[in-house]
Amino acid sequence: MENKRFEIGSLFSGGRVPLALAPMAGVTDRVMRAICIEHGADLVTTEMVSAKAVHYKDKKTAELALLSDSERPAAIQIFGSDPAIMAESAAELFDRFRPEMIDINMGCPVAKVVKSGDGSALMRDPALAGRIVRAVTDAAPCPVSVKFRAGWDRDSVNAPEFARVLEANGASLLCIHGRTKTQMYAPPVDLDVIRETVNAVSVPVLGNGGVNTPDDAVKMLGYTGCAGLAIARGACGSPWIFAAVRARLDGREYIPPSPSERIAAALRHFDALVAWLGQKAGVREARKHLGWYLFGLRGAASARLRINATEDPDEVRSILGQIEEASRQ
Ligand SMILES: Cc1cc2nc3c(=O)[nH]c(=O)nc-3n(C[C@H](O)[C@H](O)[C@H](O)COP(=O)(O)O)c2cc1C
Repeated sequence: MENKRFEIGSLFSGGRVPLALAPMAGVTDRVMRAICIEHGADLVTTEMVSAKAVHYKDKKTAELALLSDSERPAAIQIFGSDPAIMAESAAELFDRFRPEMIDINMGCPVAKVVKSGDGSALMRDPALAGRIVRAVTDAAPCPVSVKFRAGWDRDSVNAPEFARVLEANGASLLCIHGRTKTQMYAPPVDLDVIRETVNAVSVPVLGNGGVNTPDDAVKMLGYTGCAGLAIARGACGSPWIFAAVRARLDGREYIPPSPSERIAAALRHFDALVAWLGQKAGVREARKHLGWYLFGLRGAASARLRINATEDPDEVRSILGQIEEASRQ
C-alpha cells in the first residue's frame, strides 16, 4: 500500500492559501480533525505524540496518530529531543499510519515537556534542533514540517535564524506561533517576527496565533506575507472558521451558521465522540467541545453546568435540544 509521496506544493496549487488546523493536545483528535476537513481545512495535525513513548511501544500513544481517510491531508506531530529516537518514531509512525507529513513540535511551552529538553526548549539549542530535523527528514519518506515559536523569551527572540537552521536541514514547511515560550498563550502575537521569519527562508511558512476571524486572517496574511495560516483555538466549537476565512479570501459572501445549525454541528460532534469512545468516555470528552459550541448562545452557561454533571448521552442530547428550542424563540 505504497502511497504517492505528498508534495508540499499541492497545498499551494493555483495560488491557494492553505488553512491548517493547528495541533492541540487533548483537542485535535480524529473527530475534530475530520470535522475540520469537512469544513474546509486544507491540512490537519494530530495531537503531539511522544517519540520516546513510540520508541517504548506505548500503545495508547500511537493511537493518537491513527488516521482515517476522512482526515487528510494530515500531519502527525511528534515531540522529543533525541535525534535517533525522533527519526525512528517518525519512520514507524509513517509506516503504520501513512501521514502526508511529519510535523516536529519545537514550540510546546509546558513545563514537563520543556524540562526534558523537548518542545520549545529546542529553540535554545538550534544546533540540536537542526540535527533532529536532519535525522527525521532522512528517516521519513514524506515531507517534514516544524512548528516553533517566536523564541524562548522576549530577550531571546530568534525565530528567523532558527527557521534558517530548520530549512538548511531539510524542513519543507514551517509554522511559526508568534509568541515566545514565556508568553505561553497570552497576547500579543508578534506579527513582525512572523514577517521576519517569512523573509528569512525560501520554504513556505504558516502564520499562527490569534487568528479567530476572517479579519484576523486577512491581517496576518497581509502584514506578514505568510504563505498560509494555522488556526488552533479559533476552530474550537467553530469548525466553520475555515469556510468563513476561505470565503473572505475568495471575495465571496459568507453566511455564518444559525444557532440551530451550531447546535446541529455540536450534536454531530458529540455523536461521533460517543460512537468512537463509548458512552461514558465519549460524554466526558465531549464536554469541552460542547462548551465551545454553545458559547454565546442563550442558556449556554446553565446548559454547560448540566452537561458537565451528567454521564448520560441522552440527557446531553436533550439539553442541546432545549438550547436549540430556546434559540428559536
Ligand atoms: C489546548 C491546547 C493544546 C495545544 N497543543 C499543542 C500541541 O500538541 N502541539 C503544538 O504544536 N501546539 C499546541 N498548541 C498550540 C497551538 O497549536 C497554537 O500554536 C496556539 O494555540 C496559538 O494559536 P491560536 O491563537 O490559533 O490558538 C496547543 C494549544 C492549546 C490551546
